[in-house]
Amino acid sequence: MNDIPIEQYLRPGIASASPYDARHHDFAWRHRELDRLMSNECPLPPSPSVIAAATAALQIANFYPNSGEDLRAAIAAFNGVEPASVMLGNGSTEVLDVVTRALVGPGDEAVISVPTYAFFESQTRLYGGEPLLIPMTDDFRFDVPAILAAVTVRTKAIFLCSPNNPTGNSWTPAELETVLALGVPTVVDQAYLECGDAPSFARLVASHPNLIVTRTMSKAFGLAALRLGYGIATPSLVDAFLRLRIPFSISLVALRAGLAAMDHPEELEERRAFISSERRRVLAALLQMPGLKPFPSEGNFILIEVAGTGRTSGEIVDFAKRENMLLRAMTAHRLKDAFVRVTIGTIEQNDRFIDVFARAIVGGPQIAAPHTTGGAMNRPDSADSAPGGPATRPPEAARSVATLPG
Ligand SMILES: Cc1ncc(COP(=O)(O)O)c(C=O)c1O
Repeated sequence: MNDIPIEQYLRPGIASASPYDARHHDFAWRHRELDRLMSNECPLPPSPSVIAAATAALQIANFYPNSGEDLRAAIAAFNGVEPASVMLGNGSTEVLDVVTRALVGPGDEAVISVPTYAFFESQTRLYGGEPLLIPMTDDFRFDVPAILAAVTVRTKAIFLCSPNNPTGNSWTPAELETVLALGVPTVVDQAYLECGDAPSFARLVASHPNLIVTRTMSKAFGLAALRLGYGIATPSLVDAFLRLRIPFSISLVALRAGLAAMDHPEELEERRAFISSERRRVLAALLQMPGLKPFPSEGNFILIEVAGTGRTSGEIVDFAKRENMLLRAMTAHRLKDAFVRVTIGTIEQNDRFIDVFARAIVGGPQIAAPHTTGGAMNRPDSADSAPGGPATRPPEAARSVATLPG
């Protein structure tokens, strides 16, 4: 037996990769009494028809699942695309992982508009690519000229997010068309599409073979724990991506539940209406509070600049935690210390959030007696975002993906 340390057999880059930090999810699952407004989950549980379909699937769980051809057909019809353009994934994170792996390797670059979902950056690094982080403008608009200028012959992918996590705003079709005109593979993560009225880019795939749209059933559909997402791309790309995806990566329970959810578009519209009206209500309340700058959003979350309150994001999040409420401090890069993100919850949770936040920013009681709340927060877990970083080609020390606050 040789005496080479076992870790030396690992591929280069793995030791330095930053794994997704799931501590905040583990904490929330250990403390189910807390209002979990930190991970952009849906406060509404799956509908009875979805639960019935998932339960029925469990009865035949001794069989391997099919490829989800019926669900792919339903998703294709829902989005106005051909079934061959649809690829299912174990959450949209699986689709994003496969797409990154298919496009980006050592020596390649990926252009990423930041702040955004940190997974684009982490997977680019994991597969040996170099992320070029293009900051949004100071007022959080997408910097299209800077994105165009960053693209070189080494650019193998451009990552965009619409509505964008955490800023909440969406790409316009005209902005996106400008980027697509470069011909470079362009991924648009539309995880939050069904939470508001942002434009869907699914149909653009037919005319733009370099467009890859990713979607999920984790957000408005409320199926985060089932892990079901999909990508929409030109059929030749879908064919290539499927060579990399693990076969049977989506369980029969998820496939059947997803199909049942697709069968009830009216329920999705109710969810969209609920999230949108609660988001408007929370935004209106935040706009009344001194020193805050909340950003209008098409997602199920609101980004709030707190610098004008004299409080840091960490102080506010800590205050909320003592009040049994989990929020997210956006701590990476230039968002450092000045931004908090809240997820839209149930009506009761949103009422409580407005009360807690109002007290947190005026320096309400620092050691408030925690009070417990009712059930509505015990919802499935989901992956989430951290904001990305500063200028193009940031120094090595600044380049690791932001760790998430606990
Ligand atoms: C922008 C964005 N994309 C994708 C995901 C993950 O989605 P999924 O649950 O489909 O893997 C998240 C989760 O928070 C997200 O914010």
